[in-house]
Amino acid sequence: MADSREQFGSKLGFILAAAGSAVGIGNLVGFPVGAAKNGGGAFLLMYAVFVFFICLPVMIAEMTVGRSAQKDPLGAYTDLSNRNPGWRFAGWLSIVTPFMIAVFYLVITVWIFGYLFESVIGNLDELAQPETFGTFINSYNLFVYMAGVIAIVYLILQGGVKKGIEKAAKILMPALFFMLLVLVIFVLTRDNAMAGVAFYLVPDFDKIDASVVNGALSQAFFSLSLGMGIMITYGSYIDKRADLPGSAKLVALTDTAVAFTAGLMILPAIFSFNPEVNPEELSESSISMIFSYLPQIFLEMQSTFGYVGASAIASIFFLLVFFAAITSLVSIFEVPVAALMSEKGMERKKSLMVCGAGLIIFSVFCALSFGFVTFFTEFFNYAGSTKSFFDVVYDVFYDTILPLNGLLICLFVIYRWKKANFNEELDRGAPNFKGSIFERYVNFSLGTFIPVILLVIFVNTVALKYFGVALIG
Ligand code: PHE
Repeated sequence: MADSREQFGSKLGFILAAAGSAVGIGNLVGFPVGAAKNGGGAFLLMYAVFVFFICLPVMIAEMTVGRSAQKDPLGAYTDLSNRNPGWRFAGWLSIVTPFMIAVFYLVITVWIFGYLFESVIGNLDELAQPETFGTFINSYNLFVYMAGVIAIVYLILQGGVKKGIEKAAKILMPALFFMLLVLVIFVLTRDNAMAGVAFYLVPDFDKIDASVVNGALSQAFFSLSLGMGIMITYGSYIDKRADLPGSAKLVALTDTAVAFTAGLMILPAIFSFNPEVNPEELSESSISMIFSYLPQIFLEMQSTFGYVGASAIASIFFLLVFFAAITSLVSIFEVPVAALMSEKGMERKKSLMVCGAGLIIFSVFCALSFGFVTFFTEFFNYAGSTKSFFDVVYDVFYDTILPLNGLLICLFVIYRWKKANFNEELDRGAPNFKGSIFERYVNFSLGTFIPVILLVIFVNTVALKYFGVALIG
């Protein structure tokens, strides 16, 4: 298998695919509202510093490991550590984590697909009713939408790296940028839009406390798709002559630019169509923003643009979020699919079938955990609250294990694989990077304060989530 490893066709294709992974639901909704509520410009500044000084080195580390090993994360950890069992465990974590995150991300993508469909067929008024979301996530229609999303993911992934992932990214990402710009221009030219811009951007340094700092860093880490084995896998599909640090910088920049631009769409839209908004009441949860709050804002638009106009705007918005979600979903699901292919020598389609069957089973469990089936709805108890199956998957894999995976890759690269090997791979295709200040910074940070910070986040999350003890903030 190894000698015929699939590859991206071009550097642009790789960057778009990796940016497609990074740009997700969090960028479009979670980031803007989180930023606006937690210090505006002050939050943005801090976020940008975290992206470039903490997350970018981790992204470079992941891509480099993947390209050197030309393997999935399990194979990469195994080969580069000479089959050390401890590091093989880290490899396992890097394929189980994306599989489980794919499970709950699929469910959210299915909801978005459903809302897209409903707004296209003219049911915006219904989507704007407060009780709709609760009913919607417990309806049988959900399984029809789920079949639709799974079919799309299958269609993209069965095409392979170049004719599937890369081709989809080359179509979906420019379409996403275009829709985002259209919506931003539309929103910024409305009355009262500038109040939203001011709320988003005016810095308030008093709001920055330890928990905001922790939140901003976690958001940046998740937003760049780190700790999920994705950048290792995508890195293994890139040409040995390609400039890895340069590509990683562009991916980080694109992801941050999209998150920033999304703020210029969401907040002015809220302020313009609901001038009495009390900013403190805006929920930071992407879920309640997308599915409960924004449909009401879209419906407000009918007084200016008529029902059809308002439905069209809502449809473009949901299509935008859907494109962002589907490129992320594809990237994360590719990790276990690629692992099964190279570890077991399976054909792509067979691996897709096997992983897909698992994905469907677990996702159905997740979908049933909002009231449908009591066993899944009241799945577990910790830190004094009852958690659904969906909550447990989210808490364990998304919130807890991601920073742990980030910590492990830093330690692995510097202390096990060793700096010299890392730098040799890194400089291939980027001769100017050799000996540069940034290279020295990447080496130093990955071996020192980045793993320490990730360890603190990990320990804090475990204490807070499972024992109800707040160590920070
Ligand atoms: N960056 C993605 C987002 O913001 C995170 C992610 C990537 C989640 C891939 C799932 C799969 O949504």
